[in-house]
Amino acid sequence: PTSSTMPSKPVSAPLPTDVFKPDIFKGKVLFCTGGGSGIGKAITEAVMRHGANAAIVGRKLDRLTEIARELSNGTGRTCIAAQADVRQPEQLKAAVAKTIEHFGRIDFVVCGAAGNFLASIDGMSENAFKTVIEIDTLGTFNTIKATLPHIRATHGAYIHISATLHSRGSCFVGLFRSISLSSIGTPYQAHVSAAKAGVDALSAVLAVEEGPKGVRSNVMAPGAIANTEGMSRLANQVPPSPGTLLPYPLGRMGQVQDVASMAVFLLSDAASYITSQVVVVDGGWEQLRTPQ
Ligand code: HXC
Repeated sequence: PTSSTMPSKPVSAPLPTDVFKPDIFKGKVLFCTGGGSGIGKAITEAVMRHGANAAIVGRKLDRLTEIARELSNGTGRTCIAAQADVRQPEQLKAAVAKTIEHFGRIDFVVCGAAGNFLASIDGMSENAFKTVIEIDTLGTFNTIKATLPHIRATHGAYIHISATLHSRGSCFVGLFRSISLSSIGTPYQAHVSAAKAGVDALSAVLAVEEGPKGVRSNVMAPGAIANTEGMSRLANQVPPSPGTLLPYPLGRMGQVQDVASMAVFLLSDAASYITSQVVVVDGGWEQLRTPQ
């Protein structure tokens, strides 16, 4: 290819995903809910640095517009902001229409919009539980419904952002108060655990229903990832005890780029035979979890 057909050189600092070839997503378009911050933003940046354009979707248009500009400037690709609350199917359809109007196609969908707070079953209202189910699980369903015709057309791929809360029992309380759990279940996370279990199931059904049509669907389950909305809201409420040993074989918390690296792989042709999987990106947290 000539220099004019190659993606523009990224101007932001090097990232771990730079080990992938810079043009693997050239001509592709990403639609990312929750793309305005944290893991969703990092995935969008990494995918754009490999040639894709993107639409980031969220509730606050002003903030999204600012982030879209930052991502465009940092990667040399184009990112647009599309306002939608994932609980509202009509808003999502409008965000998809805006993306198609702008780019003409959607190849990848990342369902990253999520809600969370710490509350016991006894201490949360029915509406509190329902709110997180609606954002995480129904929001994922709504996003799939709104994007599926376009993903079928491009033989594209989905990534759903889940968690290990419901499947491994890793938890904020376990991390920050050195309480290890001997069975599956994370306290104060009933709403998110139920919601993310639903997300895992949705992804698996999507994978088997749409696999024959060339669509892949996988889940990424991050562990504790630094500098994210989830960690700042939840971890700050249970500060680390002095001398707490971080329970990671790799000796550090995750970074958003660690999750973005897996997303780049899963969306790339290198993962073309991988679907219906839940890929845990937690630094091996589970391996050090021992009952006390
Ligand atoms: C108890 C709460 C609450 C809290 C809200 N509610 N916060 N209940 N404890 N801390 C209740 C409200 O009282 C209300 O119920 C209901 O939830 C809806 O609240 P609203 O504020 O009206 O809803 P909304 O404006 O839609 O906001 C929903 C939200 C949102 C979920 C609270 O603000 C949000 O999503 N915040 C966090 C975003 C976030 O952290 N995302 C990253 C998740 S990462 P009533 O009965 O009063 O009407 C993640 C993975 C972590 O989850 C894994 C780490 C290892």
